[in-house]
Amino acid sequence: MKFFIDTANIQEIEEGLSLGMVDGVTTNPSLIAKEKRPFNDVVKDILERVSGPVSLEVVGLKSGEMVEEGKKLAELGEQVVIKVPMTTEGLKATKILSGEGISVNQTLIFSPVQALMAAKAGAAYVSPFVGRLDDAAHNGMDIVEQILTIYDSYGFETEVIVASIRHPRHVLEGALMGADIATIPFKVIEQLAKHPLTDKGIELFLADWKKVLKLEK
Ligand code: E4P
Repeated sequence: MKFFIDTANIQEIEEGLSLGMVDGVTTNPSLIAKEKRPFNDVVKDILERVSGPVSLEVVGLKSGEMVEEGKKLAELGEQVVIKVPMTTEGLKATKILSGEGISVNQTLIFSPVQALMAAKAGAAYVSPFVGRLDDAAHNGMDIVEQILTIYDSYGFETEVIVASIRHPRHVLEGALMGADIATIPFKVIEQLAKHPLTDKGIELFLADWKKVLKLEK
């Protein structure tokens, strides 16, 4: 399973890279806004550091606007993936952009049939938002399983990104289902590495190490 980091924060990206946990980056307008820096500066800093896929989202609502924005964003780096919302206008944009060789991440996916349509339109990635579905009293991971079944049945190569991750269990379930990618907030990457028994084990080993007879110099 590939790990993308779901952030536009450079410190988090650098820390994730040093852990070897950043196969790519996903951003969205909300994550960019949190940085309180000009969009172009944020994007430049990310692209200088990350060679894997970096998703940048369009904000136009009409397919023509999305295509125009997407083409400009794609010029910023060969690793740029254009994030296009899952609407009928978005599907038209995905068809055009992917037809021109530009990778698209169809975002804001909340049902398996939306993911089926995105794959048919040529999306390289789909992002089902599991956390937001959980927030609305659904089981977000159910749609990931259904999307994987559909893609497997029909041989679609579109990669499934488990998105809107809230906790380590989303990552575990996605990995067990065979989802291609999880895009994970930095806080959850840290949580994934932690286990109280690991901390306890270190504590015990260090306490015992103090009891080991050491040779005098
Ligand atoms: C995905 O690419 C999105 O950036 C992200 O996962 C949205 O997550 P949220 O529901 O925590 O905003």
